[in-house]
Amino acid sequence: MSQIAFLLNGTPVRVQGESPTRTLLDWLRDTRRLTGTKEGCNEGDCGACTVMVTDAEGSRALNACILFLPQLAGKAVRTVEGITGPQGELHPVQREMITHHGSQCGFCTPGFVVSMATAHLNGDTDHDDQLAGNLCRCTGYAPIIRAAVAAQTAAVPDWMRADQTALKDPSIFCPEISSGGGAARAGGADSPLGAAYRPTTVDDLAQWYADHPQATLIAGATDVGLWVTKQLRDLSPVAFLGGIAALRQITRDGDQMRVGAGVTIADLRRAVAPFHPSFAELLRRYASEQVRNAATIGGNIANGSPIGDAPPALIALGATLHLRRGQTRRDLPLEAFFLDYRKQDRQPGEFVEAVSFPTHAPALRCYKLSKRFDQDISAVCGAFNITQDKGIVTAARIAFGGMAGTPKRAVQAEAVLIGRPFDIAAATAAAEAMAQDFTPLSDMRASAAYRLQTARNMLIRYLHDLGGAAVSVLKVRA
Ligand SMILES: Cc1cc2nc3c(=O)[nH]c(=O)nc-3n(C[C@H](O)[C@H](O)[C@H](O)COP(=O)(O)OP(=O)(O)OC[C@H]3O[C@@H](n4cnc5c(N)ncnc54)[C@H](O)[C@@H]3O)c2cc1C
Ligand code: FES
Ligand code: FES
Repeated sequence: MSQIAFLLNGTPVRVQGESPTRTLLDWLRDTRRLTGTKEGCNEGDCGACTVMVTDAEGSRALNACILFLPQLAGKAVRTVEGITGPQGELHPVQREMITHHGSQCGFCTPGFVVSMATAHLNGDTDHDDQLAGNLCRCTGYAPIIRAAVAAQTAAVPDWMRADQTALKDPSIFCPEISSGGGAARAGGADSPLGAAYRPTTVDDLAQWYADHPQATLIAGATDVGLWVTKQLRDLSPVAFLGGIAALRQITRDGDQMRVGAGVTIADLRRAVAPFHPSFAELLRRYASEQVRNAATIGGNIANGSPIGDAPPALIALGATLHLRRGQTRRDLPLEAFFLDYRKQDRQPGEFVEAVSFPTHAPALRCYKLSKRFDQDISAVCGAFNITQDKGIVTAARIAFGGMAGTPKRAVQAEAVLIGRPFDIAAATAAAEAMAQDFTPLSDMRASAAYRLQTARNMLIRYLHDLGGAAVSVLKVRA
C-alpha cells in the first residue's frame, strides 16, 4: 500500500510518504492544520481528539490520537470543522451547547461536539454512556448533558449523512488510489506507508504472518497506539487487520456463538446483550464509546493482560479460542491460553482467528470493580457461572481478572461449591477458599488485601444476585 485514500470532511484525500504508525491526530494538526481536533492525553482517555469515522457499517466516534492512518483506508473522517455545515451553519448540538452554556475554557468542546453529533446521527440518547469518554475539567457535565438532550429531537443535518452516501459511489476515490480494497505488501524506503500490510482475507494474513512472525499485528490499536504515542516504539513491519471482513463476523451454530477476532467490543456488546445481559453490562463499562468502537475482542485476548475485562467473562462461559498459523488451526479452552504474566500459548506467526462460547448460561454474572465507574481499568473483575440441578451445584466456573498475573479460574472455590446447595454457608466457605486460589498484587489500583476481600464479596454478591436482590450500584439505594 504505497498510498491510501479517504474522505476528509467530505473531500477525497490521498496520503503517501507517511509512516504507517502516524496517528490521525498528528496528521490532521501538523499536515492539514485542522487544529480543532485537540491533543489532551494522547492515550485514548480524554476524548479531546474525537473524530467521526464512517464506513459501510455506519458512523462511530473514535479517538484520533490512537488511530493510525492506514486504519482509515476507504473510510470517511469528519473532524469538528466538518460538523458545521458547508455554509457555516451550526449543528444542533453546537447550538444547544451555546444555549446551555456547555463550554468554558473550550479545550474539551470539539471532542464533546463530535461525540454528541455522532450520537445524534445514530439516534443514541444514552448520553452518559456516549459521553463517558469525553472529559471536561471546568464546565461540569450537567450543562453538556442538557445540551445533548435538547438537541436530540432536532433533525439530522443533511451534511452529516453525506459521508454514507458518498462512500456508496465506487468512483469516489480515483482508481489508482488504494482504498484498502486489495491486499498489498510492496513498498519502498521512500514510501513508508508501503511497509504496512493490509490483507483483506484471513488466508492472506495467515500466509504473510507465518512468513513474518516478527511483525506487529494491529487491530483496533487501543493498546498498540500507546506503544507509539507513549513508548515511541518502532513497530515495523506491521499488518493492519481492519480490512478483513471475515474476522468481523459473528455467527451462531446451535447453542454456540462464534465471534471473529476483529469484532469490536461495541459490536460484541450488542451481540451478547440478548443472551448474556450481565456480560453486556460489563462491556458497557469497558473503557468508553470511542475505545469500544475501535478495540477488538482478538486484541483484548491476545494482549494477555491480567486486567482485560472480556477474558474472565469468556472463561466463566467455557469459551474456546481458535488460533491459526499458516494453514494449521488449533482450538483450546481460553483459560489454557494464558500461561503466565504476559505469556500466552501462541506460537510465532500464530494469531487469534475467533472465540466461541455458549449462548445459554442463565446464571452468568459479571462484576467490575474500578475506582471510577466509567472509563476505568478494573482493579478486580469477577465472572461467575454455576449450574444447579434440584438445588445442588453440579458445575461451577468462576474467573477473575486482577487477582493474578493472568485471567484465572478460582478452582479451589469452585470445588467447595460442587455437590451442595448454593447458600450463604457454601458461598462463605468458597470465598474463604479463594485465599488458596490467589496471591494478588498490591499496585496503584488496589492492595492485595483489598483485592482478595472484594473478590470474596463478589461471590456473596453473586449469591444475592441469583436470589433476585438488586446488586447493581445503579439500583441499590440506601
Ligand atoms: C483509554 C483506554 C481504556 C481502556 N479500557 C479498557 C477496559 O476498561 N477494559 C479492558 O479490558 N481493556 C481496556 N483497554 C485496553 C484495550 O482497549 C484492550 O486491550 C483492547 O481490547 C485491545 O484491542 P485492540 O483491537 O485495540 O488491540 P491492538 O491494540 O490492535 O492489539 C493489542 C495486542 O493484540 C495483538 N493482536 C491484535 N489482534 C490480534 C489477533 N487477531 N491475533 C493475535 N494478536 C492480535 C496485537 O499485536 C497487540 O499485541 C483500554 C485502552 C484504552 C486506550
Ligand atoms: S488526546 Fe485524549 S483521547 Fe486522544
Ligand atoms: S470547558 Fe474546559 S475542559 Fe471542558
